[in-house]
Amino acid sequence: MYEPKRKCRLDKFMPKQISLRITIGGILRFKGKLYTAKYKTQFILILILALSSLCTPLSAQERRPGKLFPPEKIDILEKPRKWQDIDKIMYMMRIRKGDVVADIGAGSGYFTIPLARKVGTEGRVYAEDIQKEMTDYISQKVKKLQLKNIRIILGKVENPLIPNNSLNYAFIANTYHQLERPLLLLYNIKKDLRSHGKLVIIDWDPTKDPFFGPPREVKVPVDTVIKEAEKAGFRLMEKHDFMPYHYFLIFKYF
Ligand SMILES: C[S@@+](CC[C@H](N)C(=O)[O-])C[C@H]1O[C@@H](n2cnc3c(N)ncnc32)[C@H](O)[C@@H]1O
Repeated sequence: MYEPKRKCRLDKFMPKQISLRITIGGILRFKGKLYTAKYKTQFILILILALSSLCTPLSAQERRPGKLFPPEKIDILEKPRKWQDIDKIMYMMRIRKGDVVADIGAGSGYFTIPLARKVGTEGRVYAEDIQKEMTDYISQKVKKLQLKNIRIILGKVENPLIPNNSLNYAFIANTYHQLERPLLLLYNIKKDLRSHGKLVIIDWDPTKDPFFGPPREVKVPVDTVIKEAEKAGFRLMEKHDFMPYHYFLIFKYF
């Protein structure tokens, strides 16, 4: 179901490395007299450090994310999940008729459809994903089911492109570990929430069964999620453990 985490993206940085090497080589040659063998060793060490940091270009706000869920395996997302009871989740979120919810990283729309039924015709669900195959799949499903309260959005890695100040809930299920720019995404989501809006994050707990779900090393510890959300301006309101493999967090923003 899941593939191992991304490897170091050297290919992306190759041109920079080459130009760096040439530049430093140039400086050494140009100022040959100043930089003796002693300094040359230091230069080489600095160069090695610089290249290794290019190999792991994760700034403080980025973790190494899990691979995006492959669209060709979308059927897996459609299988009923005894371990993730959507009715209980919506009950715990206190979703009501008329609410506006964004299903961020909607995938096949597993949660989108029950959410749309729950909020009713007076409400609305934005089903957002960054993979077009996913949003196309949801479009077909929505057409078939003739649901009128779902808007489908092809978002960006760092921005779900949802109208600002529109949401009662931003809902991110089984997706957080795949986020490439979690802080920036959360920061943008904050702008999309209404003043009492909530952020809900459900994701794989690495302390629970390590043999189920994505590889353990890409699962994000609950404390990391809380810290990242706090950095983006959210405050934890509720933390629940009723799912066997997932944590369930509700935040509000301040
Ligand atoms: C494992 S699937 C989960 C889908 C759905 N939430 C569910 O539980 O069935 C994760 C989805 O998140 C999407 N995704 C990953 N990073 C994203 C991002 N930055 N913004 C929106 N969607 C993202 C992927 O394309 C994938 O469809």
